[in-house]
Amino acid sequence: MEKLLVTGGGGFIGSNFIVLAQSGSNTKIINLDKLTYASHPQTLQALSQLPNYQFVRGDIGDRILIKQLLNDYQPDAIINFAAESHVDRSIANPNDFIQTNVVGTANLLEETRFYWQGLNEPQKSAFRFIHISTDEVYGSLGADDPAFLETTPYAPNSPYAASKASADHLVRAYFHTYGLPTITTNCSNNYGPYQFPEKLIPLIISQALNQQPLPIYGDGLNIRDWLYVADHCRAIYTVLEQGKIGETYNIGGNSEKTNIEVVKVICNLLNELVPKSGFDYQSLVTFVKDRPGHDRRYAINCEKIKQELGWQPQETFNSGLRKTVQWYLQHQAWVNAVNTPAHQNWLAQHYGIRP
Ligand code: NAD
Ligand code: DAU
Repeated sequence: MEKLLVTGGGGFIGSNFIVLAQSGSNTKIINLDKLTYASHPQTLQALSQLPNYQFVRGDIGDRILIKQLLNDYQPDAIINFAAESHVDRSIANPNDFIQTNVVGTANLLEETRFYWQGLNEPQKSAFRFIHISTDEVYGSLGADDPAFLETTPYAPNSPYAASKASADHLVRAYFHTYGLPTITTNCSNNYGPYQFPEKLIPLIISQALNQQPLPIYGDGLNIRDWLYVADHCRAIYTVLEQGKIGETYNIGGNSEKTNIEVVKVICNLLNELVPKSGFDYQSLVTFVKDRPGHDRRYAINCEKIKQELGWQPQETFNSGLRKTVQWYLQHQAWVNAVNTPAHQNWLAQHYGIRP
């Protein structure tokens, strides 16, 4: 692949993917991002140092812009990360999620179809549209249920999950109806560098360092299956290079943890790395009102990508989390910069947390 169009590359996973895709390769990357609150200038600043990289500000739903970009840059593949991604915000304001995740993806697919149909035969068969989705489309598991398979029926429960499920169905339909060479990946919860501190792990690190309450929804026993972001990005790259068109691949870390376990591990790392005499970060844990419709458990069976494409995670939960906490400690300038008045407003409105 010589030229990739990455959408949403100013966000958490997209920015990590661009760094990975550029290391040791001459691949040219065009990053199309709308720059919502989830994308920060300091993240883009870090990317702008890369060779063969170009940034374009814009919306995946803007068909005129997409048409022009595809014609001008002639990418060999599109990796679609762009989305509204936070479940709590989808509960507070679902419309943004419908607009970007459903309508935006539909518009991107439609312009991609016209572009792809105009390519010559070798280019057409080499072209890929990789759609980045989530395990949340499969719904919620009981304690003893088997992990999600690629064949598990969709049962999305939040407006976020429903919008991602809609997009996945459109991607599937474009393969079946038009032959557009699409592949969808459904991944579990990611963590690592550059994750916005609205999501559990970076929120807890940032709150703890500021000696603020660590909000845990409900009884803290909801389970997520955690994967270090670089392992997710390696899986996406593997799918781009070797994945079978029309297929979907589950990606996960085989690392199920309750939320309270996750928070305790973070607190223990901080007790070790940033000790405060006579103080245990766990004393900040505060149980708060549950998330409406809170899915109880996610677990991913990722045997297909392991067996068929040879991918497997390189980090364990403990090694990945240690790297993550260290990254946040070493990048306090980034943490301070993303703590904008808008973010403080979100914390105040959603949790009643005031600085
Ligand atoms: P993020 O919220 O950190 O980043 C999303 C990026 O998309 C931001 O840079 C934002 O500016 C951009 N964006 C939003 N709307 C856009 C639009 N209309 N046009 C162009 N750009 C737009 O999200 P993330 O956590 O990096 O997630 C990336 C993708 O991976 C999403 O599709 C998400 O559903 C999926 N995913 C995330 C996780 C996770 O744990 N974070 C797990 C599985 C799948
Ligand atoms: O499973 C993949 C999904 O993981 C992605 O598709 C989403 O984009 C991503 O945001 C993530 O969704 P979750 O809702 O699982 O992630 P979040 O970090 O918001 O929450 C993780 C768990 O922690 C969940 O059970 C809710 C809980 N939680 C979260 C926050 C923000 C709390 O207990 N307190 C909090 O303050």
